[in-house]
Amino acid sequence: MRFGADILRQADLLAGVTEEAGRITRTYLTPQHREAGELIAAWMRDAGMGAHFDALGNVVGRYEALDPRAEVVLTGSHMDSVVDAGRYDGVFGILAPIACVRDLHGRGARLPYTLEVVAFGDEEGVRFGVSMIGSRALAGRFDGAALDRRDAQGVSMREALHAFGGDESAIPSLARTRIAAFVEAHIEQGPVLLDEGLPVGVVTSIAGGTRVRARVEGVAGHAGTVPMPGRRDALAAAAEMVLAVEAHCRERADTLVGTVGRIAVCGGGAINVIPGEVEFTVDLRSGDDATRRAALAAVERRCREIARRRRVALHWDAFFELAAAPCDAALQAQLAASIAAHGIAPRFLPSGAGHDAMEFAAVVPAAMLFVRCGAGGVSHNPRETLAAEDAEVATSVLLHFLEHFEPRQLAR
Ligand code: GLV
Ligand code: MN
Ligand code: MN
Repeated sequence: MRFGADILRQADLLAGVTEEAGRITRTYLTPQHREAGELIAAWMRDAGMGAHFDALGNVVGRYEALDPRAEVVLTGSHMDSVVDAGRYDGVFGILAPIACVRDLHGRGARLPYTLEVVAFGDEEGVRFGVSMIGSRALAGRFDGAALDRRDAQGVSMREALHAFGGDESAIPSLARTRIAAFVEAHIEQGPVLLDEGLPVGVVTSIAGGTRVRARVEGVAGHAGTVPMPGRRDALAAAAEMVLAVEAHCRERADTLVGTVGRIAVCGGGAINVIPGEVEFTVDLRSGDDATRRAALAAVERRCREIARRRRVALHWDAFFELAAAPCDAALQAQLAASIAAHGIAPRFLPSGAGHDAMEFAAVVPAAMLFVRCGAGGVSHNPRETLAAEDAEVATSVLLHFLEHFEPRQLAR
């Protein structure tokens, strides 16, 4: 096996770089981000690339073309994780192209373009709520307001970036809007390829998403003395709102998904206190932006009705949005040709998960290669699995694509 076993071994090493013993949690601008980035940079250098941390903590490896005026092609994915994550989400899209460069370099082969492999510092948005921080900056779309966002400990992104050794003033210079293409390899995070017995597939488009932070304010009171009819229980109201989100999305399940991933009684709550204040999040996704925006409005309306009836206040902050992103047709065709060259029928499928490629799709031709996800397709879960054989095939397909890719074939 040329690639698969090494990639899984490296993913295991990265899985050991975590903020929480016994589970994988690696968030932006933490010591674990630094440690993972240093491991990745060392692998990049060992493979034949120059590598450095950029101003936002992304690790950038460059495999130079012989011609210094050659175009630049970007590939890569994210090194951060959700809380209690699997070990391949993001990581595969960093390790596979490093393996490709190692192979090219070992053969003394150069590409007709400079290849940059990027390990993005943040895609999941776990620490500061907003996601795609690294890719957004490289796509020239960084929103400076993100620097004022604070983590659960009250540390702002600006402060954390400074402590990490980043450089706020250099963020605008990270923009790579003149690159020829962005191509990302990623584990599917769903069961489509698994169910169809296929190791790889080509992504057609990436669903858009909206993130909401909601706060319900009722009245705290004694669990034993306040009669049931008079209560303004923030948690009971929030629970009804959670079910309203689910009901709305279930009724439109062919085009929409919605998740309340976090809910908490402010201050922690107590068994004998009626909850006075509750916060929860809403994550809405759809391949169609109009459907998602209509759902956002409808769900907010429904939650406000619940708040009125239960005599609680509702603060609703739709603080982050990502538009749906179609993948470039010519790049999809070229990825499909590389899959077919391996004797595999190209399967085209949409992505329900968000990816760094979304940020680039707005400004340059962008595409994605999916690799089969084992264990029923489960992801954002420590049970996420990737077979070495699938990592092998996907990396070989990526290498074939990189070696046959001709930036001039793309319509501009
Ligand atoms: C990232 O994995 C996302 O889809 O939220
Ligand atoms: Mn993820
Ligand atoms: Mn991911």
